[in-house]
Amino acid sequence: MNVLDRLDTTLRVVGGARLEGSVEVQGAKNAALPIMAAALLARGKVTLHRVPRITDVSVMWSLLEALGARLSLQDRNTITIDAANVNKARAPYTLVRKLAASFDLCGPLLGRFGRAEVPLPGGCVLGTRATDLHEAAFRALDAEVSVAHGYLIANARGGRLRGGEIEFRMPSVGATKNAMLAAVTADGDTIIHNAAMEPEVVDLANFLVAMGAKIEGQGGDTLRVTGVAELRGVEYEIIPDRIATGTLLIAGAITRGDVTVKKTRPDDVLALQLALGECGVKVTTGDDWVRVQADTVKGGTDVVTAPHPGFATDLQPQLLSFLCTAPGVSVVEESIFNARFSYVNELVRMGADVRVAMDNNTALVKGVAQLSGAPVEAPDIRAGAALVLAGLGASGETEIIGLEYIDRGYERLEETLSSLGAQVQRASGIVPFSEPTGTFETSVYPSV
Ligand code: UD1
Repeated sequence: MNVLDRLDTTLRVVGGARLEGSVEVQGAKNAALPIMAAALLARGKVTLHRVPRITDVSVMWSLLEALGARLSLQDRNTITIDAANVNKARAPYTLVRKLAASFDLCGPLLGRFGRAEVPLPGGCVLGTRATDLHEAAFRALDAEVSVAHGYLIANARGGRLRGGEIEFRMPSVGATKNAMLAAVTADGDTIIHNAAMEPEVVDLANFLVAMGAKIEGQGGDTLRVTGVAELRGVEYEIIPDRIATGTLLIAGAITRGDVTVKKTRPDDVLALQLALGECGVKVTTGDDWVRVQADTVKGGTDVVTAPHPGFATDLQPQLLSFLCTAPGVSVVEESIFNARFSYVNELVRMGADVRVAMDNNTALVKGVAQLSGAPVEAPDIRAGAALVLAGLGASGETEIIGLEYIDRGYERLEETLSSLGAQVQRASGIVPFSEPTGTFETSVYPSV
């Protein structure tokens, strides 16, 4: 297999089937990645349950190995990380460029070695990936920070970080995670103002507390961290993936089906529940499940993406696909990333009526009676999922090129959807993560 083979991987969707039934959702990608990075801070072995078998996890796996950690696969979704022998504070660009979340390594490296060298994330298809908030946080913890040759280089003055006061100008998920990761083993107390409140940030905090860290206020906008000398190994289960939950619920909605997502946390998708409800979808919840019944869709809705608990930017493309099939006019405004509507052109090729305003932040969606299947290309993970959903609600066949993006975030999406009655097939022979073999297969990244 070579790079070109990978680019040719496609998903074929035959639309029209009404999805019905229930599925359990995978563990959260955006919690698993920083938690794996945080394992660098542990003195003993870390065992993680409910780790999603996705390629982003396999990149983080390879990154930790490149730094000297030893990882092993216990069963399908359980991994252990032993960071005892980690001896490098510099993350290799060849791996980092595949994963924006690699930047989560800065905090743990800085905490462990008093030094971190991590390539800058640069831009991505969603927009600019600035790092000023991360840098400000490290400086507040008494690190010297510079940028050289594409790398962010941070050095703790005196070899160990010191607690400080961090005031973010806006809540950033990544910068809050890095600030916490750096502060937990710093000398003294840290206060983080205007912290991100996303469930994955809370899960990282809870994991760190399980390792012996002292953090208060998680889930709110002010975090208080009291530095401790060392953190211990721990066994921990990752939270359910709210974005995968939302994607499956919208799959139910766009096919006017009846879908229940189990082993999830309904409150984590509250804003989506409200948006679907406004469109006439019946949404019911229990302790750990959410059900959508969508034969009553009567109209669209307006949403603005916002930090949690607002409407998640990572569900914006999937909801927009659904709105293309809902009667009437909907307005979708993106407030987190500055280039997150590029996939709209692909939906238009499927017969959608969507106009993106000149500022690139607002999309006007007019529902059409029926989308029509077409060959389309996924530009990123969530837009890829959105195109799959559009294919489910369209007439005829949709071929989605760029399946490797979808595999970055969704564990065998085609199998999950097929179990609900969808006609979805992986069109080329690459199946990541078949059965456990003792190592977490990285076969989709053979060149690494
Ligand atoms: C995380 C998620 C991503 C999600 C996003 C928003 C992971 C691996 N990724 O990304 O899926 O879409 O949260 O919920 O968890 N910004 C700055 N300066 C900074 C940092 C960020 O200006 O120093 C800006 C970014 O350019 C962006 C916005 O803040 O426009 C949001 O970024 P942030 O919350 O940091 O998102 P990520 O952690 O990158």
